[in-house]
Amino acid sequence: MQRRNFIGQVSLCTVGLSVHRSGLLAPLHRANNKIVLALVGCGGRGVQVLNGIIKENENTEVKYFCDVNETLKAIPEQIEIHKKKQGYAPRFETDMKKVFDDQDVDAVVIATPEHWHTLAAIWALQAGKHVYVEKNPTLSIWEGQKLVEATKKYNKVLQIGFQNRSAPYGVSAREYIRSGKLGNLVHIKCYNMLGGSKWVARPDTPVPAGLNWDHWQGPARRVPYNPNRHSMTSRGGWLDFWSYGGGALSDDASHVMDLARIALGNPGHPKSVYCTGGNIGFHSAKETPEFLNITYDYGDFAMTCESGSCTNYMTKEGNEVRYGAQWPYWPQNSTRIEIYGTDRLMYLGRHGVGWQVMEKDGKVVDMDKGYFPDKFHQKNFIDAIRTGVAPNADAQQGHLSASLVHLADIAYRTGNRHLIFDGSSESFTNSPEANQLLKGQYHPEFEISENV
Ligand SMILES: NC(=O)c1ccc[n+]([C@@H]2O[C@H](COP(=O)([O-])OP(=O)(O)OC[C@H]3O[C@@H](n4cnc5c(N)ncnc54)[C@H](O)[C@@H]3O)[C@@H](O)[C@H]2O)c1
Repeated sequence: MQRRNFIGQVSLCTVGLSVHRSGLLAPLHRANNKIVLALVGCGGRGVQVLNGIIKENENTEVKYFCDVNETLKAIPEQIEIHKKKQGYAPRFETDMKKVFDDQDVDAVVIATPEHWHTLAAIWALQAGKHVYVEKNPTLSIWEGQKLVEATKKYNKVLQIGFQNRSAPYGVSAREYIRSGKLGNLVHIKCYNMLGGSKWVARPDTPVPAGLNWDHWQGPARRVPYNPNRHSMTSRGGWLDFWSYGGGALSDDASHVMDLARIALGNPGHPKSVYCTGGNIGFHSAKETPEFLNITYDYGDFAMTCESGSCTNYMTKEGNEVRYGAQWPYWPQNSTRIEIYGTDRLMYLGRHGVGWQVMEKDGKVVDMDKGYFPDKFHQKNFIDAIRTGVAPNADAQQGHLSASLVHLADIAYRTGNRHLIFDGSSESFTNSPEANQLLKGQYHPEFEISENV
């Protein structure tokens, strides 16, 4: 028998209530309940998230577009659009600290590259702002600790851009697994098998006009401008360098592993990590690997993640699957999770796919079709600010999911070692070399202090 929507339609409200504590944050008290936003990092994702938040939530408006690239075409366009909507023009600003100093601003969306995420979020929290910070929220395990500490200390909403945490089907998958219908959990396989091409080194060039390269680099070590690291018109290649991100793993695989953790009931850190891989697809000379095959030991079950950017025949699902009723062809779905129990197998898809449980011969016995959860997550951010109920993707869960990326990257960078991790002290017990990578190095003007 096939059943659509196991456990009925899990309401959006249920997502928040069942996952999180409530009433710990101070709700916004403003006479007119208006929330004034600022966007820091006006690339493709930042503009998308800001506009989503404004569309999904009444009585919200934007006062600043902040970016270190003054030439972005989107900025004057967006200023014009929001001027018509809200009756005054948002300002353009290049220095995020000036934005955080403005008492009119209640909340900021941070959509810079990853090396800025934690520092910018901490500065914003210290200035009394609520924060939506994109994934991967941190560049190291130490940064995750600091983000958690700062969020607790300043008692503001911090929503991480792990939008699957607002997907009702993630919760229904977890309830289904808890009900025991898969049997005992044995193995969880995460896939992030994306397309890509060979990386080719290019020479350094002068810094393009209109870009503050020093502030783009911020906490990262100083290097000459290079078009492989940065593009003036699109995202560019910063994810290929350890100074700014963690390759395909911190980009899309972080979402897949976060969704797996939701379905598994938010487990803590794994006991060990081991990985193999490298630039074995196109044999390019970039820093972050083209492919990694990772094994995490959770004691009661094993989890693997196969993540790369060199398999062009795999499919990131389109709108008919993300927003419609269509299911993917699972074997070539590039961003899926397979959950093997002793009795049954669950396929769980990112991008709003949903989940299906199968018996032998692919016979589907249960399922919950999903919907791409961005808009639910954007609504949840403002709801959290207005009600004081903790957001769906809080700092602690974001830190635990982001740590899976960091653990694997450290194992890779120390020579594909099998590293034993002590979750209580958040350190490795068998590699001083790996412990050196728990925290990055900061440019002196852009340090995160030990005491946030
Ligand atoms: N949650 C999701 O599904 C999702 C989807 C896409 C991207 N993202 C994340 O969103 C972030 C942004 O992605 P993108 O594709 O827009 O990247 P991008 O590189 O195109 O945009 C980043 C912008 O930040 C600006 N910036 C850099 N340093 C700055 C600073 N100090 N102050 C102000 N602006 C600064 C850059 O000039 C650039 O315009 C990334 O972390 C990415 O991983 C998340």
